[in-house]
Amino acid sequence: MGKTKSLSFSFLAITCAFVLHFQYIVLAQEHVASSESEALGLTPETKRETLEIIIGGGGGGAYSPAPSPENNCPPPPPPPCPPTRLEKARAALLKFKSLINDPKGYTNNWNNNTETCNFRGILCGTFPVDNQQAVAGLDFNQAKFSSKDCTNIPLTGFTGILDKLEELTFFHVNSNNFSNQIPEAITKYPFFYELDLSNNKLSGPFPNEVLLSTKLVFLDLRFNFLTGSVPSQLFEKDLDVIFINNNQFSQCLPANFGSTPARINLKVVYLMK
Ligand SMILES: *[C@@H]1O[C@H](CO)[C@@H](O)[C@H](O)[C@H]1NC(C)=O
Ligand SMILES: *[C@@H]1O[C@H](CO)[C@@H](O)[C@H](O)[C@H]1NC(C)=O
Repeated sequence: MGKTKSLSFSFLAITCAFVLHFQYIVLAQEHVASSESEALGLTPETKRETLEIIIGGGGGGAYSPAPSPENNCPPPPPPPCPPTRLEKARAALLKFKSLINDPKGYTNNWNNNTETCNFRGILCGTFPVDNQQAVAGLDFNQAKFSSKDCTNIPLTGFTGILDKLEELTFFHVNSNNFSNQIPEAITKYPFFYELDLSNNKLSGPFPNEVLLSTKLVFLDLRFNFLTGSVPSQLFEKDLDVIFINNNQFSQCLPANFGSTPARINLKVVYLMK
């Protein structure tokens, strides 16, 4: 009795296990099948159609070989036009925008719906070298730009903008958070006349790049953190305006002060210390 009981119990247990296992397999298969058709977005009808087309396709079930590549080469695409000056400037400006923190929304209209020349703060003009339209000036005065992490924006390199637009005639960015270096590139810009970097975060020694910028007539570096001496060459340059007060220069007036043709704001120079 006890033996029969235990036997039938184990038989039942095995059967149950087998049935459960079998059901599990069936369920698993159904699940795979249904999720596959779900994934393909196919109803059973479309699945069948697809199958028929695959089996019977190619005309009478014959296997049609892939067309030979010689017959099917598209004509080579024309070489891409080099980007225009405006296109290059637009790319540089949009990249600059993506890297800065713009608390006043100054660059809000710098987007796909706005022509580059209508971007706020952008002045366009004809670049005399090749008569192309180009970005001739940037005016971000009072925009209070900083970098994305609310630190300074280096003027050169990854976040640079002044170093990417050789067509610039002016760069007016007072009251922002730009820091060194002033790019050496400006010394080669053929029509670069005005640099206003007042009330920014320039530090370290006087930026000699401005001395080498041949066309510069207006220089405003007030309210920064420049240190050391002011090079005497600054006063030999043919600048109309030099503002360098409210820095941390450590030097008396250079001996040649007074030889400058610039209409120097005297107060500026006396406030150098
Ligand atoms: C602007 O255009 C670019 C390139 O065509 C595209 O990748 C980007 O998603 C567009 N941006 C918006 C905001 O529409
Ligand atoms: C950026 O500069 C503006 C004006 O100089 C200033 O008010 C602001 O606090 C600065 N922002 C940062 C993050 O330094």
